[in-house]
Amino acid sequence: MLRISVSLAAVLALLPTAIAQSDVWGQCGGQEWLGPTTCVSGSVCTFQNSFYSQCLPNAATGGATTTTATTVASLPTGTSTAKTNTVAKTLGGKLYFGSATDNPELTDTAYVATLSDNTLFGQITPGNSMKWDATEPSQGTFTFAAGDVIAALAKNNGQLLRGHNCVWYNQLASWVTAGNFNATALTSILQTHCSTVVSHYAGQVYSWDVVNEPFNDDGTVRAFVFSNALGLAYVTTALVAARAADPKAKLYINDYNIDSAGAKATAMINLVTSLKAAGTPIDGVGIQGHLIVGEVPSKAALVANYEAFTALGVEIAITELDIRMTLPETPALLAQQQTDYQTVISACKAVAGCVGVTIWDYTDKYSWIPGVFSGQGAALPWDDNLVRKPAYDGIIAGFTN
Ligand SMILES: *[C@@H]1O[C@H](CO)[C@@H](O)[C@H](O)[C@H]1NC(C)=O
Repeated sequence: MLRISVSLAAVLALLPTAIAQSDVWGQCGGQEWLGPTTCVSGSVCTFQNSFYSQCLPNAATGGATTTTATTVASLPTGTSTAKTNTVAKTLGGKLYFGSATDNPELTDTAYVATLSDNTLFGQITPGNSMKWDATEPSQGTFTFAAGDVIAALAKNNGQLLRGHNCVWYNQLASWVTAGNFNATALTSILQTHCSTVVSHYAGQVYSWDVVNEPFNDDGTVRAFVFSNALGLAYVTTALVAARAADPKAKLYINDYNIDSAGAKATAMINLVTSLKAAGTPIDGVGIQGHLIVGEVPSKAALVANYEAFTALGVEIAITELDIRMTLPETPALLAQQQTDYQTVISACKAVAGCVGVTIWDYTDKYSWIPGVFSGQGAALPWDDNLVRKPAYDGIIAGFTN
């Protein structure tokens, strides 16, 4: 099956007779659109996506005068009719297949409709709205409105919720970093924050990324206000506060570049080992899985590393999976991406203690990748138009085989 964007000219050619023009704001093109393809005077037919072109007032098109829809190269799409969360649970033996989301996207009704389909997604993670800068922007002032929206969405959809996160070096409120607090004060600040945020969502959260990204890629402790003052004791402080606040939530430490063996994975193993030895509450390691097409470790390497974590007596989850490529998309890159998704999913399937997989949003339309990695993107299983890509079939195959 091919993903084909039909040009307006081609659509027009298929029409037997001339049809009335569309009014301003009306539809004027898109796949399977058989209505008018020209616009009334004062408006311009403007390509929005392959399913929808719209008559925009001249002023709104930024001076565009073209009425020609963009024709993109044909790219393969996903063809599986199976549903990701259903297959993750039934054939994969997992708790869920999930997606991150974020509050600004929730105005996109087509996006929300797919996100809310719990045969596709059995779990959601708020991308930003439970982070420190969002929840305690000034000391002692907590704001949960945005996070509550995501929690309510998950509840209404019958989806598990992953809290994200209690403490991270990034998106930390500036009052914490700029406050010149001593170690005693920082311990208290961290206790108050984790305790308040986790207790607010107590009973609604399956798992919490209590500590996010504690290590550098070489396995050294990442420097920031809490580790600088407290060393890795801050990890214990956060975990203990979270456990007290919600005894039923699974408490995780979450990081990237710990997919296969290496200095960073070893640092995480050593940390979890020491936490376990000290009786500190720790239930899971989150393996983010921000990966690159064609550079994904082998299934054997992934499984060996996943099992090194689960051997410590913790569960694991793939928490932020995306597999990016250097743009533009090509059929070959999409085929490699399909293979790469299948590899990661099948590695999780092979490890009993890998409880689920979360992608870091489901559509390229809202992926963080292009904004951070210049020239890269197309990292997710649904494209900009919410059409499934070959990667979708890779996910299904990974849970199935
Ligand atoms: C740390 O800061 C707090 C608050 O400013 C202060 O009361 C306390 O004495 C300080 N502790 C040390 C050990 O300096």
